Amino acid sequence: MYVLGIETSCDETGVAIYHSERGLINHLLHSQVEMHSEYGGVVPELASRDHIRKLVPLIKQSLQESQLNGADIKGIAYTAGPGLMGALLVGAATARSLAWAWQIPAIAVHHMEGHLLAPMLEGNPPEFPFVALLISGGHTLLVKVEGIGLYRLLGESLDDAAGEAFDKTAKMLGLGYPGGPKLAALAEHGEPRIKFPRPMTDRPGLDFSFSGLKTFALNTINALELNPNKTAQDRANIAAAFQQAVAETLSIKCKRALQQTGLKRLVVAGGVSANKQIRSSLTEMTAKEHAQLYFPRLEFCTDNGAMIAYAGCQRLMAGQQQGLEIFARPRWPISELY
Ligand code: KG4
Ligand code: ZN
Repeated sequence: MYVLGIETSCDETGVAIYHSERGLINHLLHSQVEMHSEYGGVVPELASRDHIRKLVPLIKQSLQESQLNGADIKGIAYTAGPGLMGALLVGAATARSLAWAWQIPAIAVHHMEGHLLAPMLEGNPPEFPFVALLISGGHTLLVKVEGIGLYRLLGESLDDAAGEAFDKTAKMLGLGYPGGPKLAALAEHGEPRIKFPRPMTDRPGLDFSFSGLKTFALNTINALELNPNKTAQDRANIAAAFQQAVAETLSIKCKRALQQTGLKRLVVAGGVSANKQIRSSLTEMTAKEHAQLYFPRLEFCTDNGAMIAYAGCQRLMAGQQQGLEIFARPRWPISELY
């Protein structure tokens, strides 16, 4: 069964075609980074308008490159939330309308479920059950995954998401949007000389808090501004210290989650999982814990249509589908999927 996947929750238009037996057939992505960078962040109205411009041409291109036509597609999966309302509506309305025209089922996919299942697109996918760390611009979640749709929330951020902390700290350092990759690039030239806190690691539990790290970064940057002998190296050192604090904090909590659940498989996904230091810190921790670590390939860490097509295909094969309504839910706790 060929499933068309559509992702428009934020600033990337993603389209993919996934086949239930043959796997991923094609995936295309249009990034809006250049458009938003002028404004220093995502402008929701511009995002929606750009999705409108790009989505249908991308679907046509994806069908063409796959040498398929509409009649071959047997289901459509679209990101219904969480995300920006206008952006989600573009994908949802297009998916629902195409499904109606082609007389096939459509399925609303939770964006974080897409991220969570992205490692399933790789050659050596994890077996269930596993622990998943989902780190994106809007979410930081630790989830016990028992199967498709069987997600038990173990912990989450009580304030800023990890990606949000990266983006805000990057802004304070005068780096533009998108902050995460820019901060990571600067950190490569720095030394983590300043000791940032490792929030909430000194008490039991699997929740996170990243807003304190951001405040610590702000105070450190303000103090640096007053220093007449400041150098560019000092900024790189702050970036390195911040990044190390996030990486270590995530690693400590993941280790705790593995120990608490007794599981030996950790999946890490979402935009922030593209971060090299976080990857190496988790690699080191899982090796010590004799656990297996699974990442999606870099292009499937950040938003993409392939993960939505995959997640939707699994749900469609399980007999699920959406009614004729255009379903978009900007706030949608993953715990409601269980
Ligand atoms: O999953 P994603 O593409 O979109 C959301 O669902 O939010 O994640 C975007 C987030 C942004 O906060 C971005 O700054 C962060 O992922 N990000 C990174 C890196 N690449 C993307 N953060 C740290 N290091 C990176 N290399
Ligand atoms: Zn995402």
